[in-house]
Amino acid sequence: MTTAPTLPTVSAEQVNPLRHGLQIERTPEPCIMIIAGATGDLSHRKLMPSIFNLAQSRLLPGGFTVVGMARTKMSDDAFRDSVKASLKEQGYDTTTPVWESFANGLYYFDADYQDAQRWADLGEKLKTLDEARGTGGNHLFYLAVPPSAFPTIVQGIASSNLGRDANDPLQGLSPTEAHGWVRIIIEKPFGRDLTSARALQREVTNAFREDQVYRIDHYLGKETVQNMLVFRFANLLFEPVWNRRYVDHVQITVAESLGLEGRGAYYEEAGALRDMIQSHVMQVLSIAAMEPPATFKANEVRDETAKVMRAIRPFTPDTIPANAVRGQYGKGWIGGQRVPGYREEEGCKPDSNTETYAAMKFLIDNWRWAGVPFYVRSGKRLARRLSEVAIQFRELPHLLFEQGPTDRVEVNSLVLRIQPDEGISMRFEAKLPGPQMSLRPVRMDFRYGTSFGSQGVDGYQRLILDCMLGDASLFPRYDWVDASWTLFMPILDTWSQTRPGNFPNYEAGTWGPAESAALLERDGHRWRRI
Ligand code: BG6
Repeated sequence: MTTAPTLPTVSAEQVNPLRHGLQIERTPEPCIMIIAGATGDLSHRKLMPSIFNLAQSRLLPGGFTVVGMARTKMSDDAFRDSVKASLKEQGYDTTTPVWESFANGLYYFDADYQDAQRWADLGEKLKTLDEARGTGGNHLFYLAVPPSAFPTIVQGIASSNLGRDANDPLQGLSPTEAHGWVRIIIEKPFGRDLTSARALQREVTNAFREDQVYRIDHYLGKETVQNMLVFRFANLLFEPVWNRRYVDHVQITVAESLGLEGRGAYYEEAGALRDMIQSHVMQVLSIAAMEPPATFKANEVRDETAKVMRAIRPFTPDTIPANAVRGQYGKGWIGGQRVPGYREEEGCKPDSNTETYAAMKFLIDNWRWAGVPFYVRSGKRLARRLSEVAIQFRELPHLLFEQGPTDRVEVNSLVLRIQPDEGISMRFEAKLPGPQMSLRPVRMDFRYGTSFGSQGVDGYQRLILDCMLGDASLFPRYDWVDASWTLFMPILDTWSQTRPGNFPNYEAGTWGPAESAALLERDGHRWRRI
């Protein structure tokens, strides 16, 4: 084996943190990232571009190495070529010295995940690479495989002791075997219901301690989701009004105009509740509703988000119809293009009952939020791609300006835009210029692009780097995941046992089914017009 040149290391001062949108007081230690499922779509479309972006931004440690793992047999060079081809296809420049250096750190290892011998062989390969590339036994496993393969891989890692690291109590290991750190990133979904999530957690804890496990939710890597923490807890202005005394209700929208993008078979089994609400949307809600932690340490932040999940009023079969709505798109128009209905998509059943839209009302039973509804909605093939958290404040207690009989003072609102056009806007009343005392709502806007000249980095990049740095603040802990599945099980059970009867119930390119509007109308509210 030839020793490949290492990537140049760059000190924090040499990199402009604003330009890269990352704070990099720390550089990760050299490590090997072992990607299970390296020939798959996720690896090619998301992981490799993210890691390569980190390399281009000089944020990877010297000696950084990737071992791609999959069943297909291929050489290291063939793997490098395949990564190069897919990066090129996605518009990356692969003619640069950064690519050469990056490519030298790419290796491939074919494996049948069920074969214990191959896991032992992987252990040998990692030892050799640790020596050649100076990675000191620091290993990061990334499960970029379908969820059904998670348990087999975790068992393989456990059987070969590859999950043990220097912090391990050293049962069964000689001190020389345990060195460096070992971590694992597990893609969502973590289970497909409470039972499977618990079973997977049992497998995971056989091989890893909780502090080694990084369950990825790429929404937590989004700048605007993190900015919610800064906005709330680094400003004095907003926290005093962030509660039931001033907030009337909260609306969280995570809308996509895209359809299934060839993932029909997966989506048929998932649906909007599992795919988006149970993970991404509830993470956003948890951050919007959490109490301030004392510090930004991973477990303190995660204690608070888990408390939110546990405080949400549970659903019962009786309360579900009035609080949870499902929808499925039929054919329609998006951006001037005719698009097929869900049931006509490849991989979907012609009489499918899978929901492509879900809207819900939650009540959080604690002092801060008692009586304040949190409405959330998420769906595919909606009119626009847009994610936001909107805080709607209460009505004024008294109005001293005379208004015409049809005039109404708009309530204040604060909108945190997650994507696109990331930013924050506040709506308030202002005096219309002129001799009369007339009021009009106006907006005060903060835009990431304008203020910082950058939209920040992609969530995956940020999260992979955090994992290399050992910072788990932005990764859901298992108790959060368990609480989330516990909350949604009654709805999942009810929905799987009852046919919706009226699917498809919204046209592609609209804002979802009529029942969703009714969910808010019952409380005298309506979804924000976007
Ligand atoms: C994924 C879901 O987790 O998130 C997809 O599986 C969805 O169905 C995607 O399209 C949305 O992510 P983003 O970052 O494009 O909003």
